[in-house]
Amino acid sequence: MKIRKAVIPCAGLGTRFLPATKATPKEMLPIIDIPMIQYIVEEAVRAGIRDIVFITGRNKDSIVDHFDYAYEIETVLEKKGNAALAEVSRNIAKLCNIITIRQKNPMGLGHAVLCAEPVIGNEPFAVLLGDDLIDSSVPCIGQLMDVAEKLGSSVVGVMEVPEKEVTKYGIVGGTRVDSKTTRVHTLVEKPVLGEAPSRLAIPGRYVLSPGIFDILRKTAPGKGGEIQLTDGLKVLAEKEKLFAYEFDGTRYDTGDRMGYIEATIAFALKRPELKEEMAKLLKKYVQTLPGEKS
Ligand code: UTP
Repeated sequence: MKIRKAVIPCAGLGTRFLPATKATPKEMLPIIDIPMIQYIVEEAVRAGIRDIVFITGRNKDSIVDHFDYAYEIETVLEKKGNAALAEVSRNIAKLCNIITIRQKNPMGLGHAVLCAEPVIGNEPFAVLLGDDLIDSSVPCIGQLMDVAEKLGSSVVGVMEVPEKEVTKYGIVGGTRVDSKTTRVHTLVEKPVLGEAPSRLAIPGRYVLSPGIFDILRKTAPGKGGEIQLTDGLKVLAEKEKLFAYEFDGTRYDTGDRMGYIEATIAFALKRPELKEEMAKLLKKYVQTLPGEKS
């Protein structure tokens, strides 16, 4: 089960981030000085994937430009003697091959994945959501690729969430195979409280068999009138095999404002040149909160 391609759906409207996303793709919003989509692409590249398939829409061209050379900027930087920064820019273009497919109407994540079929064809592939950052020493998608290879099956990455948060995710239900792996029998998209089959939530990493395409073609719109990937995965779990794997790593929901702020703080605290200043800043603001000692 060799995975050569990663699909990154980026055609959503990003309404939770309006007005910032009116003319700028949500995926290009930076965590400090790196657009969130670059972290996602780097995760796939670290896992050995070279072909990245972006599912894009109108107003999303800057995503593709970001992974190309920027001759004007790079030349000016060279002339000003900042060759190191010019190289940072060029290295982004060297990361991977970029293939784009247009999802002309954002009809849901399942539909976005189906749009990749002409490029993926009949081989298994990875899917990484463009607004979920997972910080881990072994790239999350690489962990899933290893499990998919070992089990010869599709795999979704899952994490345990508090009971009250199950309503925000696709939730899996099934039988434990080992301490980190579950054979999936059912999936529910954003269940109401009390109806979730478990607390194992899918944040946005998948390794899928090409059998998913036929299924998605026949999947009717579900929650929110969108073609839901979760609904397609439920059928995949019945027709083929599907496993859920509890990956190692910290996940940030950067498509949500608080998740985005948290990721910015966490990543700043990890950057050697920023961490001291960031820690001082946090202390300063915490002291101004009611009930905190000054
Ligand atoms: P989200 O629902 O988190 O993103 O989809 P969104 O629709 O852009 O954001 P909100 O909810 O309106 O704020 C998860 C990922 O799937 C992509 C999005 O771009 C995002 O990266 N997506 C979603 C598509 O590519 N196409 C779609 O039809 C829907």
